[in-house]
Amino acid sequence: MGRFEVQLPVPPTLRPVRTDANTDYYEVVQRRARREILPGLKTTVWGYNGAFPGPTIRARRGRRVVVRHANRLDVPTVVHLHGGRTPSEHDGFPMDLIRPGRSRTYVYPNEQRPATLWYHDHAMDRTGPNVWMGLAGMYILEDELEDRLPLPKGEHDVPLIIQGRKFGPDGELVYSTDNHDGAPADTVLVNGAPWPRMEVARRKYRFRILNACNANILKLALSTDEPFVQIGTDGGLLPAPVRIREIPLAEAERVEVVIDFAEYPIGTKVVLQDLKQSIGGQRDLMRFDVAREARDDSLVPGRLREVEPIPEGEAVRTRQFAFDQRIAFKSLTNVDRQMTIDNKPFDPDRVDADPRLGDVEIWKFQGGDDHTAHVHLVQFQVVSRNGQPPGEHERGWKDTVQLGGEVSVIARFEGYRGKYVLHCHNLEHEDHYMMARFDVV
Ligand code: C2O
Ligand code: CU
Ligand code: CU
Repeated sequence: MGRFEVQLPVPPTLRPVRTDANTDYYEVVQRRARREILPGLKTTVWGYNGAFPGPTIRARRGRRVVVRHANRLDVPTVVHLHGGRTPSEHDGFPMDLIRPGRSRTYVYPNEQRPATLWYHDHAMDRTGPNVWMGLAGMYILEDELEDRLPLPKGEHDVPLIIQGRKFGPDGELVYSTDNHDGAPADTVLVNGAPWPRMEVARRKYRFRILNACNANILKLALSTDEPFVQIGTDGGLLPAPVRIREIPLAEAERVEVVIDFAEYPIGTKVVLQDLKQSIGGQRDLMRFDVAREARDDSLVPGRLREVEPIPEGEAVRTRQFAFDQRIAFKSLTNVDRQMTIDNKPFDPDRVDADPRLGDVEIWKFQGGDDHTAHVHLVQFQVVSRNGQPPGEHERGWKDTVQLGGEVSVIARFEGYRGKYVLHCHNLEHEDHYMMARFDVV
């Protein structure tokens, strides 16, 4: 299909069904729906309230969010708030299934730094297909400190949820694990629309960009060769803005950037590109059309938000996790390739690491650059990448990091005791057991 024909949609903000002094209550129905994603065709999706992607939840730091999810699909589901510091029983452990016809209530305390989070399916063995069919949405956490910064706000603060997908000629989604390598995709969706375009005014916009692909690692750039002004990472604002031309963005990573379209005359078309051409070999993701003049009171302050480095000297332990694969012989004729961490496929009953509550630990992830390590519960800091300083784009709070050699991260395991997981965020790798359980004890 053609490029830049569809207007960029923005997922609607979910309305609470009830609020009280310190809590907002939401209800979500996970259900099938028929949506027009490709012009003129209907696609069956499994959506939060039938939407693709799901509605955005906007939360305030210190105010609880309670979401009741009813599963009206034919498959078991699990909901995980990615990047959330969430009590274990609400974190979406892969075995904590919501069976079809049942429901489950998740409680999010929101006692953490403001950040662009997202919620998505996490069901044992079937996270890949469940997310592919639509079970993913954004969750934006804010606070007063961030309100007071003069960054672009309101309609100039725009989520961009990037997803690679594949459709059949009938418009239906086509899913394959590709022998567990990762679901092949050839169609770019941004906020659920194929290669959309957005009309922008000559002013600054804040974009919260989420790589919600199952298995595509991107590298963002602008067709004008101008740098982005990066202001945030997975875990919230950076200490100071960074001018950066190319931003690697692996599965589940988020990056926040400001683009000032006042640098361009009206009529300029600025294409957001993926230099890795990861989705079906295609470079273009979406286009911004500079269409009108506008007043702009916003600015990007030189100091954004303090990021206190966790001193390496505070680490009481170092652990290593090797992301790899192995051949498992189920029988002489049934040979299966499994994705593993430390040569072990995921076992929900086996505890692979047991940090103590409050301890600081260094975790070293080893593996190829097709893997993306994600740790639940915590935000970490990247200490080093193959002995070198971390990339320019990843010097803030992170919960997900692309591998490639050895990446060391440091985290304080605070918040809650209980069972959590770390895993590869290539969802087909995750489903095929590239996951480990850790218990905070
Ligand atoms: Cu984005 Cu374990 O998840
Ligand atoms: Cu997560
Ligand atoms: Cu992987």
